[in-house]
Amino acid sequence: MSEAIKVRGPGKVLFGEEEISERVAWMGRELARDLEGDLAKDDEDAQSHPDRVVILPILTGAFVFTADLIRSMPLKMSIRLVTASSYPGEATTSRGARLRGVIPSDLGGRHVVIIDDILDTGNTLELVRGLILEQNPASLRIVVLLDKQVPRHSEITPNYVGFEIPDEFVVGYGLDWNGYYRNLREIVTLEVE
Ligand code: IMP
Ligand code: MG
Repeated sequence: MSEAIKVRGPGKVLFGEEEISERVAWMGRELARDLEGDLAKDDEDAQSHPDRVVILPILTGAFVFTADLIRSMPLKMSIRLVTASSYPGEATTSRGARLRGVIPSDLGGRHVVIIDDILDTGNTLELVRGLILEQNPASLRIVVLLDKQVPRHSEITPNYVGFEIPDEFVVGYGLDWNGYYRNLREIVTLEVE
């Protein structure tokens, strides 16, 4: 898509508030149950560690999703924030992933969960996953709210997916275009001229 497109604003609703909230609550419960299973298998040494589950949302897009997801997970966890960007300014096609700031460096031996709003090219998740795997976590899971149905080179396979969507640019529930529309309660397509 060229930079010259004119964006009209939010368009068709793909997922409404209730549908999102039910799905996210279900994902949180599944994730918590799977993590409990892992925690139970940890050896005594690991069990004495105070900070075993680390949730790593990729900002900015994942902040709304994460806020809802973690509140349906009855589990002791710590939360660390990672900031990445791949759609600078008005772009609606990926420009390659970039991290801002650093990834926590003490993830070895911990159960790490990366949370992102949407899987598109997979560049962002591949970058973050690589940096975490280098640290030998006890386990690593990837959770995405949306999986865009596009052919991709990346080998990223999320462990949990909220919804699959067609190859359209969407906004709302944390997702933005040019910094806007993150506060919409629904997930909607972006209307262009
Ligand atoms: P990837 O690195 O190409 O997989 O892109 C992932 C990131 O790009 C996501 O974390 C989003 O922030 C952003 N992104 C990808 N597709 C969309 C979209 O349709 N709407 C808004 N942001 C998107
Ligand atoms: Mg993002």
